[in-house]
Amino acid sequence: MKRTFTVLLLAGVFAAGASNAADHSAIHEKMMKMGGPKPDDRVELKLPDPMKVMQKRMMRQHLNTVSEIAAALGANDMEKAASIARGLGWTPEEDERCKAVSELTGEPDFLSFGKAVHVTADELAASAEAGDRDRALMDLSRLVKNCNACHEKFRH
Ligand code: HEC
Repeated sequence: MKRTFTVLLLAGVFAAGASNAADHSAIHEKMMKMGGPKPDDRVELKLPDPMKVMQKRMMRQHLNTVSEIAAALGANDMEKAASIARGLGWTPEEDERCKAVSELTGEPDFLSFGKAVHVTADELAASAEAGDRDRALMDLSRLVKNCNACHEKFRH
């Protein structure tokens, strides 16, 4: 009984291995079509691991915030969109947080990219407070681009 189980288990492992190999070669082929593997030449932020975990948690929260702003704009709830966007706005606490990362890593651009995001969130809030949904949506698009500007330059 035990031996049958072991044999079945091993057969499963080998089958999984074979199908993994097939998957890998398909992925490899796709990558080659896209010009082949490229090095990740972004700047590594030298932060202690627990800070990276915290930063990524904050990032996932940011992504959630972006989704909530989009939902509020979609529901034409400008007051809600404005208040959520204000929560992402530029404050002395955000200044301190972004500055701390900049100083710790020796990367002044981290602060500029961070500030750009939070200032755009304030602009979005102002557009929503003025009841201008079209402008708020354009601001939201700029906001997401500003998020990604930092991702394009930095990595963990
Ligand atoms: C000043 C720099 C900076 C800004 C601005 C920024 N991010 Fe990030 N973000 C990072 C870094 C650094 C990472 C980690 C990348 C890595 O793992 O290599 C990251 C990772 C993420 C991740 C992945 C999290 C995970 O669990 O792996 C998400 C999602 C994300 N950011 C969303 C956002 C959103 C949404 C915004 C804008 C509202 C934003 N980020 C603005 C620097 C930034």
